[in-house]
Amino acid sequence: MHEPGRRGVGVSRLDSFVRRLEAQRACLDFGARAVRNVPGHVLELGLGNGRTYDHLRELVGESREIFAFDRQLTAHPACIPDPAHFVQGELSDTLPRFGRTHPRAAALVHADTGTGDLEATRALAAWLGPALVPVLAAGAVIMSDQPLAVPGCTAVALPAGVAHGRYFLYRSPRM
Ligand SMILES: C[S@@+](CC[C@H](N)C(=O)[O-])C[C@H]1O[C@@H](n2cnc3c(N)ncnc32)[C@H](O)[C@@H]1O
Repeated sequence: MHEPGRRGVGVSRLDSFVRRLEAQRACLDFGARAVRNVPGHVLELGLGNGRTYDHLRELVGESREIFAFDRQLTAHPACIPDPAHFVQGELSDTLPRFGRTHPRAAALVHADTGTGDLEATRALAAWLGPALVPVLAAGAVIMSDQPLAVPGCTAVALPAGVAHGRYFLYRSPRM
């Protein structure tokens, strides 16, 4: 989750940081509840430090497998997935490959892929929307730090208290 320069008047960088994290947590909590009756895995796209991975672990417990993707392993030692659940490499390689071995298998996807490189962040988000389609189960929920255009999916209203544009939620058709 990275939003360079996103501040309001009278809002300190600390305020802005806290709001972003609160929005992220509210969306993860919402997403986990929304897919209670949707079988499938959880995908964490952008393991990073592992904070949101750890929160997802708390939310779903042993009930689902969580696959975490990143080009590098830099997570806190307490938040390192077992090797079978860490998918290392560029998403442009790893996500399509995962889709071939796990078609329509993801009930919940968290995409937290923003970095300080705004251009790369936007390009990745533009690619990611369509690239997600093969992995989505019917009724899957996507939570994203970037706006995505996911063919066939509809935008979902943000949880109360999350400002418009701070996070993005989508749902695939239930069929
Ligand atoms: C904002 S951080 C994720 C933070 C993490 N969710 C957390 O709570 O600690 C974004 C991560 O996405 C990864 N990333 C960005 N673009 C990527 C790409 N094209 N392929 C694989 N990983 C990528 C970066 O390496 C970085 O670790």
